[in-house]
Amino acid sequence: MTAAAPPPEESAPDAESGILDARPVESREIAWVEKGLRQVGFFSELGRAQLAEILPYMLMVRYAKGAVVCAEGDAGDALYLIFRGSVAVLKRGRTDPVARLKDGDFFGEMALLFGEPRSATVSTEEETEVFCLASEDFKRVIVRVPDIAEALRDLAEARRRAQ
Ligand code: CMP
Repeated sequence: MTAAAPPPEESAPDAESGILDARPVESREIAWVEKGLRQVGFFSELGRAQLAEILPYMLMVRYAKGAVVCAEGDAGDALYLIFRGSVAVLKRGRTDPVARLKDGDFFGEMALLFGEPRSATVSTEEETEVFCLASEDFKRVIVRVPDIAEALRDLAEARRRAQ
C-alpha cells in the first residue's frame, strides 16, 4: 500500500515565478496588515474606511530572492508595495540598476498611470513580501482619492526622467 498523498497546499511554491506564497489578506490579519500599509507612503493618506475597502482586494505575495516581479515590456496589471525586502529596478542594456527600492516603497505605478508597458524589470534582491493591488482596484482608489493620483503621477514623472 502506498502512502496517501499530502493534501494540496493552498499556494504551492512556484519555482519559475519565484512566488513562494500568494493569498488574500485574511480577516484575522487585517489589523496587522493595516499597520503595515500605513508605513507605505501611498496608503498612509487613506482613511480607515478607504483602507477597509481596499484590503479585500489585496494579495500578499512572498517572492524568493532573484524573482522577477514584473518584466520590462510586459503589460501592467498591478501595483506593488514592498512590505519587507528589497528589489532592483533594471533596464535593458544597462548593467547597473536604475534604482533600488525597499520597505515602504512602491512600484508598478508607471504602466498603470501612463497606460504603457512596464518601463523596467523589477527583481527581488532578497526574499521579499509585497502587497499587490490589481490595476482595476488601483484605478478605483485613485478616482476616489485624486490627491493620491496627483502625488503618484508627480513621482512617476520623476522616475521616468531618472531612467
Ligand atoms: P512600471 O513601468 O509599471 O514597471 C516598472 C517599475 O519600475 C515602474 O513602473 C516604476 O515603479 C519602477 N521604476 C522605473 N524607473 C524607476 C526609477 N528611476 N526609480 C525608481 N523606480 C523606478
